[in-house]
Amino acid sequence: SRDPEVGVRAWDRDAMKRAGERLIAEGKIGCFTVAGGQGSRLGYDGPKGCYPTGAVTDKPLFQIFAEGILAHSRRHGVSIPWYIMTSPLNHEATVAFFHEHDHFGMNPDDVMFFMQGTMPSMDKATGRILLSGKGTIATNPDGHGGAIKALSVSGATADMKQRGIEHISYWQVDNPNIHVLDPVFIGLHATAKDSSGEMSGKMLAKAEPKEKVGVFCRSKVNCEPRTMVVEYSDLPDELAEATNADGSLKFLSGSPAMHMLGVAFIDTVASDPAFALPYHRAVKKVAHVDLESGEKVEPSEPNAVKLERFVFDAIPMAAKSIILETDRFEEFAPVKNKEGVDSIVTSKQMQTERAARWLEAAGTAVPRNADGTPDCVIEISPLTAVCAEDVAAWADRPAAITAGETVVL
Ligand code: UTP
Repeated sequence: SRDPEVGVRAWDRDAMKRAGERLIAEGKIGCFTVAGGQGSRLGYDGPKGCYPTGAVTDKPLFQIFAEGILAHSRRHGVSIPWYIMTSPLNHEATVAFFHEHDHFGMNPDDVMFFMQGTMPSMDKATGRILLSGKGTIATNPDGHGGAIKALSVSGATADMKQRGIEHISYWQVDNPNIHVLDPVFIGLHATAKDSSGEMSGKMLAKAEPKEKVGVFCRSKVNCEPRTMVVEYSDLPDELAEATNADGSLKFLSGSPAMHMLGVAFIDTVASDPAFALPYHRAVKKVAHVDLESGEKVEPSEPNAVKLERFVFDAIPMAAKSIILETDRFEEFAPVKNKEGVDSIVTSKQMQTERAARWLEAAGTAVPRNADGTPDCVIEISPLTAVCAEDVAAWADRPAAITAGETVVL
């Protein structure tokens, strides 16, 4: 642990992994993807989960996740349900995409879609509610934090309880390198003595002080010390850049939005009549009609204020949360922007880099350029391997990759 309050304490990784694997095999773990966002920065015409993302195959994100779930399901001989949160703006298209692709090999009974709520979008300049058409207000999904209420009111948590699911693995739709189920993280969340099994998170050391990720911190809530996340847009620059005596960042722990949630926790929190996560202000592009001319406006610059709830605001409601540090190359290759940082280009590079590391750790020779990047493009299907250990145990693993090669394994 990097938390000075907790100190550095040894913990048994293998024991936690075994505990996590046992819970998966017992059918107590489900999967949950938040896919209700509008993906406005990517500018893709369709749900983001349909976006062609596999480094070589251009497999859609939903397929990459489905194959990961299937791999765990086959390994443990258990069906693993997958809950997908959509929004009224992309629900039909998402469901149709799964039908068109035979649910990517998953049993349709194990894939459940439900919609989140929406909020009116406001004009940034005037604060007035925008219209999307005559007599229709422009709305936006109410943020990934809308998931807590939506999981409960949609009947998803009831379905989980009926299936005996006790915890769910939460991830965002835009990260192909996600470990859909991570036995070590599951074991820590569900069984470690420092965890109340309610809500846990993974952390990544920030790449630079003002990286656009929330940061974990500790603060008092009703006089009780609690773990929480402060979103980057709410963190003043001087705190984002503040350092400790050794030069390290004071607020180093970035949140890549990977969580474990207890089903009982979701139900307890969501059924409390006083429950409400706060709204955050996000300035984004929202299409609308001009009130004077009645013309449709497709803004090229952010013109609107959206109000969104963030799922990590539920963390302080958990008595004790585990925050597990992970490695950027191992688990994080987000597709957020059309180009530049966190785009499909960088995501494919990160996917190849992870595949190269898994292969090299197992003894396969991977060609690299002078700057250290792989001189090849590699995509490993989750059905072949979901982690480095799988590659190491794989009898048909190639002995070497040729320079300039494009490989699908
Ligand atoms: P982002 O914050 O990247 O938002 O969502 P976005 O809407 O997808 O993209 P931009 O900002 O318009 O470019 C992070 C994750 O949270 C989900 C998204 O689908 C993504 O998996 N999300 C976001 C929801 O499920 N609902 C929301 O209301 C917002």
